[in-house]
Amino acid sequence: MPPMQPLPQPATLPFSGHLQRWSGDPIALLHEGAEKSQKTGKVFALKLGLPAVVGFSPEWNKRLLTDLGTFRSAGSFSAVVPYLAGGVILTDAGHGERRGAVNPPFGKRSMESLRGRIRAALRQEKPAGTFDALAWADRAVLRMLNAAYFSSDLDAGLLHAFLAPLRSAFPVPAIPRPLLFVRMNRTLDTLARKRLTGGGDDLLFHLARWPGGVREARISLAAGHDTTTHTLAWAVWHLAEHPEWFRADGLKAVIRETLRLYPPGWMGSRRLSRPLDWQGQTVPKGALVLYSPYLSARDPDLWDAPGVFRPERWDASPPAWAYLPFGGGERLCLGLHLANLMLEEALTYLLEVASELQALHGDPAPRPGVTLGPAGPLVVRAG
Ligand code: HEM
Repeated sequence: MPPMQPLPQPATLPFSGHLQRWSGDPIALLHEGAEKSQKTGKVFALKLGLPAVVGFSPEWNKRLLTDLGTFRSAGSFSAVVPYLAGGVILTDAGHGERRGAVNPPFGKRSMESLRGRIRAALRQEKPAGTFDALAWADRAVLRMLNAAYFSSDLDAGLLHAFLAPLRSAFPVPAIPRPLLFVRMNRTLDTLARKRLTGGGDDLLFHLARWPGGVREARISLAAGHDTTTHTLAWAVWHLAEHPEWFRADGLKAVIRETLRLYPPGWMGSRRLSRPLDWQGQTVPKGALVLYSPYLSARDPDLWDAPGVFRPERWDASPPAWAYLPFGGGERLCLGLHLANLMLEEALTYLLEVASELQALHGDPAPRPGVTLGPAGPLVVRAG
């Protein structure tokens, strides 16, 4: 038998392995790894202080997202960010049960009861004239989340202050903020008690009835904020650049295509609870294992002209396990329907108030942080 080849890897720098490149320009590092492993199984190694393996083939994605016993969340990247470190996101044992409990208010049918409130929240600010789509998306998503979770009862300044660090580059989102978290937790507890005694029909009302439900509200709020903001901002920019798509019957395809090119959840991470045999290689227990919605959705073996914004491609179904902006399997995004509702409502509102959008200036290049976002600003004119 020929000797086993080690996994391909992008070029390292002396002493730091890939750590320095990862913190400087992880997207370039991913592209290089993908290129080097394109013909050899689409799996490559990284040295990030501990052994790490990135895969982007549909087979890899399917295995990682469906074998929860081997691919664990404890010790993944989410553990490093206090905003995301907890709740269903980091639960391994009992994950299914916990999701079963929090799923109902986030289901597709439950969204209808939130729609009116989300519409009203959007209409508190009319995007008109020349504006930065990224800043507008940020404000609009904060208002929509406040409406969906708290019937807009949460102090807007506190919500903004609480979530703002998530939109900064590392290490800002990883810095512990005990005082801010205590303030947020206390405020949420007070609102939750009101729901328990006085009733309601917002997301907090449903979550508050459960042990740990208020904490799930706080964590899912953080998971849903910049992800949705970035998608909305990019979608507006693309609509401004492709006016032929600025129409009601094209919005769903525009959202899908935006999420294909720029999935805010650009990397998903897990830790191996046992050694993994993959394509004749053994990846050791404890290794960091990653899937990349970004790379999978740009693989030229799977997509025609993958770098081109082409919403019409959504007339057909995507290749299986290659389109994962919301992850997949049992850990599929809890807020998928809520995110789609907010995105559709916000773009529909733009259609209502503007007959055309024009891209004036800005930088839509993807900047990776906790999530992938546009460098910005994204200045557009609504006419
Ligand atoms: C466009 C917007 C969004 C995108 C692109 C997105 C993306 C994702 C992705 C890729 C995952 C899987 C992560 C993994 O496999 O490691 C995920 C999980 C999750 N998302 Fe979202 N998300 C969005 C909006 C939201 C919203 C609005 C919420 C609010 C409820 C939310 C809450 C969560 C939670 C709680 C999880 C963890 C689920 C679990 O582990 O069981 N997300 N999201």
